[in-house]
Amino acid sequence: MRHFLDLHKVPADDLRAILNQAVETKTARAGQGKGACDADAPLTDRVVALVFEKPSTRTRVSFDLGVRQMGGETVVLSGSEMHLGKSESVADTARVLSRFVDMIMIRTFEDATLLEMAEYATVPVINGLTDASHPCQIMADVMTFEEHRGPIAGKTVAWLGDGNNMCASFLHAAGQLGFDLTFGGPEVMDPDPAAVEFARSKGRNVRIERDAAQAVAGADLVVTDTWMSMHDAAEAREKRHALLQPYQVNAALMAQAKPDTLFMHCLPAHRGEEVTDEVMDGPQSVIFDEAENRLHAQKAIMRWCVEG
Ligand code: CP
Ligand code: NVA
Repeated sequence: MRHFLDLHKVPADDLRAILNQAVETKTARAGQGKGACDADAPLTDRVVALVFEKPSTRTRVSFDLGVRQMGGETVVLSGSEMHLGKSESVADTARVLSRFVDMIMIRTFEDATLLEMAEYATVPVINGLTDASHPCQIMADVMTFEEHRGPIAGKTVAWLGDGNNMCASFLHAAGQLGFDLTFGGPEVMDPDPAAVEFARSKGRNVRIERDAAQAVAGADLVVTDTWMSMHDAAEAREKRHALLQPYQVNAALMAQAKPDTLFMHCLPAHRGEEVTDEVMDGPQSVIFDEAENRLHAQKAIMRWCVEG
């Protein structure tokens, strides 16, 4: 049994094997209906709990569909309707869920909740986003980059804006999969120092830039994310927006990168804030491939978990 908690906690060779598997299953399914079951149906007779303490469109639909394509069933649970961490400890919830289901995907707030779930569950636990990281998304992002541009090793990713949970997982991926990362954003929103240190400890070049144009210069991929993550306090909105405005990804900023630089956003996007329509809908944008690849990447992650 294997948990998929964070990209720096999974061996690099396993991440590469998961990415290969994702491409293989995606290719094998080409032309089939979305509800068609994969030939080997590796989740036959298995049930997966999908626990959401925060809203979700992509994670919810892609995991639900992925489990079905693999021959399994899902139980989708909303945190607000569960005892989880309120009238029952996370540890006891983990023990109980483990008696009913074969795998748990959880989207939660604090990383500690994910870790407690993994410590006490006797079935695999997958991180579907915490305040600190979003590893499944970055697996889909790397898959998408490689579909369009070939191996990501040796390339440079520019992260613009808030050094948030997504940025931390990109840094973990940089260390594991061999690419460099330039952060362009305000100092108060610098990325998690431990994630920066992880990437650097693996020999990757992590640059911190305060100037957006400098940050995207030479990048092979420009990525941004919402200026207000789901865990950010509503009252911080005005201040955060003022600090982040210089890092908006617009056509003028993309022009500072290379003509074939790709643009990604995990979505949901706030058009006109962190990114403009012209970039979202422009020729360098691969945002909907990214969204689709959540399905294929997560199916490979689930297979890795159960085949442990
Ligand atoms: N990118 C992502 O995780 O989307 P959802 O919040 O819709 O799941
Ligand atoms: N940083 C965002 C990602 C959403 C998928 C958030 O945590 O809300």
